[in-house]
Amino acid sequence: MSTAADDVREANRGMFSSRRVFILAAIGSAVGLGNIWRFPYVAYENGGGAFMLPYLVALFTAGIPFLFLEYALGHKYRGSAPLSFARLSRGTEGLGWWQVGVCFMIAVYYAVVIAWALSYAFFSFGRTWGDDPDAYFFGDYLQAGDPGVSLDFVPGILLPLLAVWGALIVVMALGVQKGVGRTSVIFIPVLLLAFLALVIQALTLTGASAGLDALFAPNWSALGDPAVWGAAYGQIFFSLSIGFGIMITYSSYVKRRTDMTGSAMVVGLSNSGFEILAGIGVFAALGFMAQASGVAVGEVATSGIGLAFVAFPAIVNEAPAGALLGFLFFFSLVLAGFTSLVSVLEVVISAVRDKFETSRLRATLVVTIPCAIISLVGFSTTSGIYVLDIVDHFINRFGILLVAVVSMLVVAWVVRGLPQLRDHLNRDGSVPVRGWWIVLMSVITPVVLGYVLITELLAVLDETYGDYPGWMVLVFGWLAALLVLVAGFLLARIPWRPDTPVHGREREEA
Ligand code: PHE
Repeated sequence: MSTAADDVREANRGMFSSRRVFILAAIGSAVGLGNIWRFPYVAYENGGGAFMLPYLVALFTAGIPFLFLEYALGHKYRGSAPLSFARLSRGTEGLGWWQVGVCFMIAVYYAVVIAWALSYAFFSFGRTWGDDPDAYFFGDYLQAGDPGVSLDFVPGILLPLLAVWGALIVVMALGVQKGVGRTSVIFIPVLLLAFLALVIQALTLTGASAGLDALFAPNWSALGDPAVWGAAYGQIFFSLSIGFGIMITYSSYVKRRTDMTGSAMVVGLSNSGFEILAGIGVFAALGFMAQASGVAVGEVATSGIGLAFVAFPAIVNEAPAGALLGFLFFFSLVLAGFTSLVSVLEVVISAVRDKFETSRLRATLVVTIPCAIISLVGFSTTSGIYVLDIVDHFINRFGILLVAVVSMLVVAWVVRGLPQLRDHLNRDGSVPVRGWWIVLMSVITPVVLGYVLITELLAVLDETYGDYPGWMVLVFGWLAALLVLVAGFLLARIPWRPDTPVHGREREEA
């Protein structure tokens, strides 16, 4: 039963004005840099057209079912990640704070990449990077020195990063509907248009079809390789933004009596649709590049920072109307990344607000100012790129996937909460959730993800990561991943305010 006091409390926490706004915000979170710069290369490397099979299996057996789980948690228990877990069972609150920690770390460095992309959107017009984009990016732009830690600020990064943080603080302070919701309602359609224009332009380049052939040519033997299946599961989890607490937080802002399973289908399919579109755009452009330089597509295919800040500028240099192509690409990165960044910050702000019962503005400042300072001091210096690379690598592996597996196991086996979550989903959901869902979430998906994690762990233990000094990997990799875990469980020890209903209260709707 919900009481009038609950309704007032909910209105104060913030609400999305409609299911449409929620879906757009969830898509905004899911569609990020991962879709544009990670998916195309992962698909290319892991069997091309044949990769679609493990990818779709992972989407339907793990991605969307786990999305159901997070939606059910947030929508039923109506709280940020820590509060929803605490209401599920008091002892699991630490899981929520662990996710909050992961989100805080991601926000710190994700903002930096958006700042680079912002600079590069403008650089596209004058091809500021000159004839050697590689040397320009690492040398002139980042001014990367030796690996280590320096406090030499690079003004070319500092200024766009300040702009990104300024915009973020305004959006976050505006609250759930006016800030988070409205940003997605505006940015997502604009992103779709910009990206479609990019794909069309890329498809008209000579050599585009060779690029698409390289991407989609199926290598069926890849299906026998467990690593390919692992890559599919990893991509789906990262890409759908699950395991971060984002979907728990967002669904707590959705009106009661809403079709959550239908919403999850829309979000899951839109995200994958965008991903495939990105694959087409990126590989068409790479096909052009390969032809222009007379090499095979495999020679120019890359992902991540190398694709965006080295390969793409080179493509822009050669392509007809290259300035437009470059602007569309970097502008898309900024839009896609910004809405994802908003979603990770919302996880942290929402948790702080629930726990300390503070105003939206105060929670926003308490979270974003330290985050912005760490981001500015840590990453706008000449050593930022190295730290970013290491933190990113470790948080992706031992943050997101590990929390996802642990929370699935705890909800299924320790709390035994799946049947009640299933019932909640079925109350208003358009996709019927049955026993298959319980089997997937309690056994099959944890086993597959556990396997992926252990292989990754062995690989990391086997060879130290990159060419970095050992202490850097220790501090910014292992220690950072451990720190968010420990901080999470310490934060869970802080008692709730006496007027926050946490215990044994059914949050079911009237
Ligand atoms: N789904 C996002 C992406 O594809 C992942 C992400 C979300 C990363 C939020 C950072 C912050 O990029």
